[in-house]
Amino acid sequence: MIESIFSTPLYYSFAEEQILTGIQSEIDLCIDDIKLQYVQAWGKTHKISSDDILEKHDLANLENFIEHNVYEYLDDLQYQGNREYKIKAWVSVFETNDYGHIHNHGDADISGVYYFQTNTTDGELTFYHPAVQVELSRCFNHIPLWEHVPIIGKLVMFPGYLKHGIFRNQTTDTRISISFNVFFKEETNATT
Ligand SMILES: [Fe+2]
Repeated sequence: MIESIFSTPLYYSFAEEQILTGIQSEIDLCIDDIKLQYVQAWGKTHKISSDDILEKHDLANLENFIEHNVYEYLDDLQYQGNREYKIKAWVSVFETNDYGHIHNHGDADISGVYYFQTNTTDGELTFYHPAVQVELSRCFNHIPLWEHVPIIGKLVMFPGYLKHGIFRNQTTDTRISISFNVFFKEETNATT
C-alpha cells in the first residue's frame, strides 16, 4: 500500500458567463493605460506592470472572483487559520519569444494567475517538484513537471513556494495574464 504524503495542492477554476464578461470588460477598459516593462534583473523574459493593478484600477469583478476562489481553496485545504489577507497583483505580457524563467514567489502564502488573453498555445504554465532532491531520483522523478494550459477566464492558484515557469511564446499572438500574491495576516491572540 502506498501513502501519498506531502502532496502539493494546486487549485484551478474558470470564470464563466456573466462573471467572465464582467472581468474581461473591466480589464479591457484599463489594459492600454497600464505601463509595462521588462525587469532588468531577469533579462528579456516578459514585461510586467510596476503598479499594483488592483490598487490602481477598478477591477472589482476580478478581485471578487479571486477572493471567492481563495476561500474555496482554503476550504478544500481545511485551513482553520486567519483568513484576512493582503493581495498584490500585476499584469504579465508575453510577446513572441518571451517566456517566464523558473522562479517561486518567496513568502507569498498563495500565488495565482488569471488568463485575460491567450490562444492556449502561447506558453504553458509549468510547475516543478518542490523537493529539489527528487531531480536526482530515477524512480520518483518520472513526472518532472506539471503543465497548465492557459485558457481565457482560467484561474490557477498554488503555494507561493512552488517553483514554476512559463514556456516560450512561439506564436505571433500576445499573451496577457494577471498574476497575484496573497499574504495572510499573522494570527493575533486576543487575550494577550
Ligand atoms: Fe510566477
